[in-house]
Amino acid sequence: MRNLFDWKESWNIGVGWMDDAHLQLAHGLAGLFQQYTEEGASLPPERMADYCDCLLEQAKVHFRDEEEWMEFLNYPGLRSHLREHSMLLAELKYYIKEIKCGGNGISLEVLMALKGWLVTHVTESDREFVHFLRQHDLFDSRLMEEHRSPCAESPFAEGS
Ligand SMILES: [Fe+2]
Repeated sequence: MRNLFDWKESWNIGVGWMDDAHLQLAHGLAGLFQQYTEEGASLPPERMADYCDCLLEQAKVHFRDEEEWMEFLNYPGLRSHLREHSMLLAELKYYIKEIKCGGNGISLEVLMALKGWLVTHVTESDREFVHFLRQHDLFDSRLMEEHRSPCAESPFAEGS
């Protein structure tokens, strides 16, 4: 079951720092899934909420990085991209609130939906952005590689 949350090479979009950050977000979801399945009902809600808080923070930082680039490059799809980002953040916030209020919070369905969102967003919307970069000759791999996301410091790094 865990491999449902593994990242596939084919989902990479060819911009190093973005691919790294997407992988970290996927690791975050995989970690959440692991906690959920291994500890299940015995997992204290505060711990689950802390974990989700961390994931939320990580997503916020990465989305901001992407949005800054899009703004800087006058990307015409910025508005709809912003909307997609804020929808995911709102969803995560909702579940965190649920967990903190003692509700059911995270379930397998929720985790699968979040993962589905991430993959669709990356492989469609983020890839569209990369297409725009290439189309307008804005794809400077050196510059893009140098933009290191703080997600590299993620607590969800493999093996942690
Ligand atoms: Fe994005």
